[in-house]
Amino acid sequence: MSPEPVPLAKPVLGAEEERAVIEVLRSGRLSLGPKLAEFEGLFAETVGARHASAVSSGTAGLHLALRVVGVKDGDEVVTSPFSFVASANAVVFERARPVFADIDPVTLDLDPQAAEAAVSTRTTALLPVHIFGYPADMDALGALAKRHGLGVVEDACEALGARYADGSVVGSLESPAVFAFYANKQLTTGEGGMVTTGSAQAKQRIDSERNQGRAPDMDWLDHDRLGFNYRLSDIACALGIAQLGRLAEMLAGRRRVAALYREALGDIEELTLPCEERGGLRRGWFVFVVQLPHAADRDETVRALAARGIQSKPYLPAIHLMSYYRERFGHREGEFPVCEDIAARSLALPFFPEMAESQVERVASELRAVLAGAPA
Ligand SMILES: Cc1ncc(COP(=O)(O)O)c(C=O)c1O
Repeated sequence: MSPEPVPLAKPVLGAEEERAVIEVLRSGRLSLGPKLAEFEGLFAETVGARHASAVSSGTAGLHLALRVVGVKDGDEVVTSPFSFVASANAVVFERARPVFADIDPVTLDLDPQAAEAAVSTRTTALLPVHIFGYPADMDALGALAKRHGLGVVEDACEALGARYADGSVVGSLESPAVFAFYANKQLTTGEGGMVTTGSAQAKQRIDSERNQGRAPDMDWLDHDRLGFNYRLSDIACALGIAQLGRLAEMLAGRRRVAALYREALGDIEELTLPCEERGGLRRGWFVFVVQLPHAADRDETVRALAARGIQSKPYLPAIHLMSYYRERFGHREGEFPVCEDIAARSLALPFFPEMAESQVERVASELRAVLAGAPA
């Protein structure tokens, strides 16, 4: 009998989440109820932010955060092409232009020097992405923003639990940071997101715009600005609250699995592992993505691993080479060589907090065999 397949990801939800959701269902307050402020307050406390606004997704959060830093029609926003497409899409929602700059080959985050070279007179904001949970160089990017008078929105959708170089938690800066709670994330509400900010004014505007432009103190059906329906239900907030209580444990689980992988994969020649944490920087472990050797055929590797019961996924494709971005903005191969090389070789391996050491070892030995060209 062949061993159980190893899935790519697996949400960890239990009796506590069930109880929390049932409590909301019985309360009859399914949206804009007490769980919303409770989740926001606890989340803000968890990351050390002054304010937090829960929203329906990370994408919705990015959209509102970009609006709150003043991005508008015709502006340019400098961002990373090595991200989930949502970060660039949110810029396009406002009819602004995402201007990509290449990434650092080690951290895979926006390279501050490349970002500086991409700044023009039309640039109004920077949108760094903490890809795979590894914090972008916010010291350099913050200084760059200051020099040019730019707003900053951090895409922290993959980075819950990460820490900046000074040891403070990602999401605790004055400028907005956006988190996401889709089912594969460190903490999940099924769908959902959170914007943290140090500014009460920013929170007020985000809270209004997520609710069709109605300020929290305004009457029902009165609206004083354009808004959206980006609300997060109380059911979702209850799910989030239940997990926040054991977030440290959940994050430690991912860190444990990452350490096991590092040990198990360390001897595979020319396989690049996620970068080590430098100085005070800490990764909020979200996925375990390796870069295959240049000579390896990634599609074939995915197929061969699948035949051996191991799920894996090319992750992530370069945004500028997606057909929409090519057609709309005229992008082509060769513009961002570091990103393109990394995007062509990146492979996400199974990764979830409850992964057993034996599962990690099995993934490692199957990958080793596949890369060595062993028959299935
Ligand atoms: C880097 C990044 N940005 C943005 C998002 C968008 O979040 P959501 O799927 O909740 O809209 C995600 C989530 O998948 C992400 O990984």
